[in-house]
Amino acid sequence: MSADIQKQTAGLAAIDHIRDGMKVGLGTGSTAAWFVKAVADEVQAGMTLTLVSTSVQTAQLAKSLGLEIKDINDVGRLDVCVDGADEIGPGLSLIKGGGGALLREKLIWEMADRCIVIADAAKHVPVLGAFALPIEVEPFAYKGTINRVTDVLSEFDITKMPILRKKSGEPFVTDGGNLIFDIACGEIHDPSGLANALKATTGVVDHGLFLDLADIALIGTDEGVEVLHP
Ligand code: 5RP
Repeated sequence: MSADIQKQTAGLAAIDHIRDGMKVGLGTGSTAAWFVKAVADEVQAGMTLTLVSTSVQTAQLAKSLGLEIKDINDVGRLDVCVDGADEIGPGLSLIKGGGGALLREKLIWEMADRCIVIADAAKHVPVLGAFALPIEVEPFAYKGTINRVTDVLSEFDITKMPILRKKSGEPFVTDGGNLIFDIACGEIHDPSGLANALKATTGVVDHGLFLDLADIALIGTDEGVEVLHP
């Protein structure tokens, strides 16, 4: 089965966790897009939901499907957030940000009572780090920030330089106006320590390590949906 079909399986399965009247955060990426489509079908069929988005991209998709997206500041706490991931490791530790939406994703995840991660089977890994870890960086004085990040990485025996993400030859700019750097960490043996150290680095707005945030993972497999708990 292709990864695309597994993403569809996982994305559509998440709708079983949505009830009438809920406040729901919509994630970003190709797997989350399947969930957004399933939400649109339910709303069309009469379900009432209050929806917020983790990105402009998802908001545009949702609106194109006839959904109304609210401002998170007008909604407050959410019942649930459903979003994809780039890697799902032990204890539902995650790497996110492959789509460059990590900061707004984390802001929405942290406002949700329950976070559901949806992904194809290849995303489930024994140890995080094969996927390059994205960090979101304030553009002002970013070279100094990256020097500090490089020092932090060396404390974790990570020797690869952060790479500026580009799109069509130009620096990729997030919805919040920041830069993304990708770090080819290799196996991350101390995700919590690395997360804390990156978070404490001036100029790093946030990082793609999502630790102790996911409550359940729905993994699309060739046999159906595998459910994982932390
Ligand atoms: C975007 C993300 C995505 O959830 C992640 O990249 C997974 O994307 P996809 O479902 O397309 O594989 O973190 O910032």
